[in-house]
Amino acid sequence: MYVCLCQGVTDGQIREAIYEGCCSYREVREATGVATQCGKCACVAKQVVRETLGDI
Ligand code: FES
Repeated sequence: MYVCLCQGVTDGQIREAIYEGCCSYREVREATGVATQCGKCACVAKQVVRETLGDI
């Protein structure tokens, strides 16, 4: 599912970034570009990051 339409970032890509070493929302944002335009997706993006970090 697309989390960020502006940058075309999916929840899978966010998880992937975390599995590859990102350990904060900020790092995920820098790695994927999520929430760097309109910012409307920030809430959902943060939630995916939180859930994924909680899982590992
Ligand atoms: Fe993510 Fe606009 S939907 S920055």
